[in-house]
Amino acid sequence: MSENQYDLVVIGGGPGGYVAAIRAAQLDMKVACVEGRGTLGGTCLNVGCIPSKALLQSSEKYADATKHFAAHGIKASVELDLPGMLGRKDKVVSDLTQGIEFLFKKNGVDYVKGWGRIPAAGEVVVAAEDGSEQTLKAKSILIATGSESTPLPGIETDEKQIVTSTGALSLESVPEKMVVIGAGVIGLELGSVWSRLGSQVTVVEYLDRVLPGMDAETAKLGQRALTKQGLKFKLGQKVNSAEKADGKVKLSMESVKKGKIEELEADVVLVSIGRRAFTNGLGLEELGVAMERGVIQVDENFQTSVPGVYAIGDCVPGPMLAHKAEEDGVACVETLAGLKGHVNYALVPGVVYTHPEIATVGKSEEALKEDGVEYRVGKFPISANSRARAMGESDGHAKIIADAATDKVLGVHIVAPMAGELLSEAVLAMEFGASAEDIARTCHSHPGLGEAVKEAALAVDGRAIHS
Ligand code: FAD
Ligand code: NAI
Repeated sequence: MSENQYDLVVIGGGPGGYVAAIRAAQLDMKVACVEGRGTLGGTCLNVGCIPSKALLQSSEKYADATKHFAAHGIKASVELDLPGMLGRKDKVVSDLTQGIEFLFKKNGVDYVKGWGRIPAAGEVVVAAEDGSEQTLKAKSILIATGSESTPLPGIETDEKQIVTSTGALSLESVPEKMVVIGAGVIGLELGSVWSRLGSQVTVVEYLDRVLPGMDAETAKLGQRALTKQGLKFKLGQKVNSAEKADGKVKLSMESVKKGKIEELEADVVLVSIGRRAFTNGLGLEELGVAMERGVIQVDENFQTSVPGVYAIGDCVPGPMLAHKAEEDGVACVETLAGLKGHVNYALVPGVVYTHPEIATVGKSEEALKEDGVEYRVGKFPISANSRARAMGESDGHAKIIADAATDKVLGVHIVAPMAGELLSEAVLAMEFGASAEDIARTCHSHPGLGEAVKEAALAVDGRAIHS
């Protein structure tokens, strides 16, 4: 094969693209991965999952030291070093993005720096930062160009005072007052970060609930825990405008039901009302790739309407999550290699990394009601779990929803410290088609947070021991 001739050219080096590239190389394909931002890892590593989790971790330590040490009999006087905290976050990011460059070298993936476009199937033109262009020939092209923040019409972001998540990961000082527009995952996670560091955070949400789509009772428990920590919620509110004046931002919002207008003032406003697929500059329209409202349409093998051109991750339908993008990527290239690639979209877990974490997999009660499925629910309060009490934690629950006739687990929803880690056993159990009884009869170590999951499973049959 000539130097510029590949089996697979991946456009986008995020979790979808870089994982697909590595897996394809493992399957003996000659692979190039084209990335324009200058570092690998995509949104997730550079301005998403990883920096947000680094700041959540650091700010939680700060909140522990300032608010919770005393309850453990520890006296401490602490001071916030925000540049130090942001510097640590940047170091975590750069270590991990460089780690992917290492993995590319190890697996023989060519990392091509620049922005790619597809003038025709089988061809990717890459424009480098210095303006030079090169053409890569490819048997298959995989688009993994991800997503970007959805803008709020009429409100312009400057990444200083009116910010998207990217700006909110690098604020130079702690805002006295912060308004978050959108009570979704980003709003709750980054709202938590700045609230813990001392900001008065108000979350304004259009709907009458937080975390739409998630099991409503579980989302409400999460909201209650965050309210206790000091976050304020204004639900059922539509933001009409945000004007900058005298170093502040003045917001005008209107209650959705009554139309009552209210003003809010903030030092920083975070716009987090969702993300949308990013496909700018690829030339998809000219190529004839079918799209629906900006989202690339694919068949069950991730092929677009143009043969030989595939797409995965945030730029195709489905939850915009890093692990979903990774699974897409692996399944896509395994299918290309003649294997049986498969993703179970019914069991993609979702975790909100607040404290406590809010973690969910499978169906919510609302979804099951809508589908007319008969179910039984088992719940166990975190306040009754001995490990949680030893940790000084009491907010949350483990909730298991099982089919009323067969006892098969249909959904698991947890609000607890490390709920995301607790959820993994539920995802695995559900992948194996487990019943609530299977989880209830599995020995869980004591004292462990996992016992709350076991007790919730026992509670499905009305026989929880500790509540
Ligand atoms: P991306 O990660 O967006 O990568 C796409 C890449 O393609 C980008 O690097 C971009 O520069 C590049 N690109 C685009 N066009 C071109 C082109 N023409 N040529 C070359 N390169 C191009 N998900 C989770 O699962 N867990 C979390 O905790 C989590 N936290 C998040 C926190 C924040 C603040 C945000 C914003 C997102 C978070 N997400 C999280 C979502 C997660 O980041 C995305 O779902 C994931 O990154 C999608 O992966 P992807 O590979 O599809 O796209
Ligand atoms: P989101 O879809 O989670 O939440 C957006 C919220 O904004 C919703 O509650 C919605 O009702 C509300 N909203 C929409 N328009 C509004 C308006 N005009 N005024 C007020 N509220 C409005 O989107 P978010 O939080 O921006 O995150 C984007 C994506 O990033 C998520 O879909 C998620 O997949 C991913 N993500 C995942 C994380 C994780 O897995 N831990 C962390 C952060 C992001």
